[in-house]
Amino acid sequence: MKLKIDDVRTRFIKHLGGEPGSVYASPGRINLIGEHTDYNGGFVFPGAVEQGMIAEIRPNGSRTIRAYSIDLKDYAEFSIDDKKGPRASHFRYIFGVAREMMALGVPVQGFDTAFAGDVPNGAGMSSSAALESCYAFALNDIFGDNKIDKMTLAKVGQATEHKYIGVNCGIMDQFASVFGKKGHLMRLDCRSGEYQYFPWNPKGYKLVLINSCVKHELVGSPYNDRRKSCENCVKAIKELHPEKEITTLREATWEELKEIEGKVSAEDIKRANFVLGEKDRVLAVCDALERGDYEEVGQKMYETHYGLSKEYEVSCEELDFLNDIAKECSVTGSRIMGGGFGGCTINLVAEELYDNFVTTAVSKFQEKYGKKPVVINVVIGDGARKLC
Ligand code: GLA
Repeated sequence: MKLKIDDVRTRFIKHLGGEPGSVYASPGRINLIGEHTDYNGGFVFPGAVEQGMIAEIRPNGSRTIRAYSIDLKDYAEFSIDDKKGPRASHFRYIFGVAREMMALGVPVQGFDTAFAGDVPNGAGMSSSAALESCYAFALNDIFGDNKIDKMTLAKVGQATEHKYIGVNCGIMDQFASVFGKKGHLMRLDCRSGEYQYFPWNPKGYKLVLINSCVKHELVGSPYNDRRKSCENCVKAIKELHPEKEITTLREATWEELKEIEGKVSAEDIKRANFVLGEKDRVLAVCDALERGDYEEVGQKMYETHYGLSKEYEVSCEELDFLNDIAKECSVTGSRIMGGGFGGCTINLVAEELYDNFVTTAVSKFQEKYGKKPVVINVVIGDGARKLC
């Protein structure tokens, strides 16, 4: 993480006064493959990045949280007993996490806090999960004797999105932020909660994000509509097959999708088609990785991009353009990363093609859209932790 403890500490003391507290950090994430599969009970393949959120926290002996956002230069005070909480979303994340931890029986008290982050906002790298996970981890440590297990901490962040922000997200981002491990990607089965670390050291390849800087904002975005489409299909399959145990598209088959044509909208079917395809692609990528077959990994990434763009329809012109450039530059794999509607492409590129790809992507994008995309080299880092 480029952010230093001292940067946060100086501001903490300046804006909140008194003695230093404890400092915690939690990262953003990338996802190699497995998009919009988490809330469908499928597999995801994320890893934590070096960029993240960092927060200094000091209990203040009251029932009030006094919070300062270093990046936004914004200050607020709110009671942990007030059910409504603050309005600004950057404070609502902290409030939501505190309330959810209290609901789990953690005796959270008031605290003073200052926080900052270096996950580019709106890049689809999950700055919000980084913030939630940072506070969930910290409050567990400060007030809860670390009694809450890591998966539950991830769920605290997810519940905060659902109840306090209004995004019905899956578990991938918070899971990655809490469980991240330097040099490793993680395959999570979102139905069972089982996960496995995969060393990520693709010899001869680099992972690079190209941030279109088209603002990705899941709040109020059609993200929730996509999820609804998937649920509509599950409901229709259950109606046709009452005996079948089905709660998510994970349990659905291609035949069943065919059967419900006409019972749900054509759009819903199109969305579910993507999800079923993506489910297979994640497993194919895992096999390919075990064989060291990066060409196959890359091929699946392009297929995912196509599906996200044409079936799930969460791409935008700029991201499709970046994907086309990747193809033209013989990049091994490229696709939209994260929820979509803007943000980054993730690219798996052979080392010898890297320079040409990055230069071409930046110049062609700038020529077409009048602004430079931002190049972010991926370094896989650790998950939520205490820094001091
Ligand atoms: C967002 C959500 C995740 C996941 C991705 C898409 O990042 O927060 O839960 O659904 O979109 O894969």
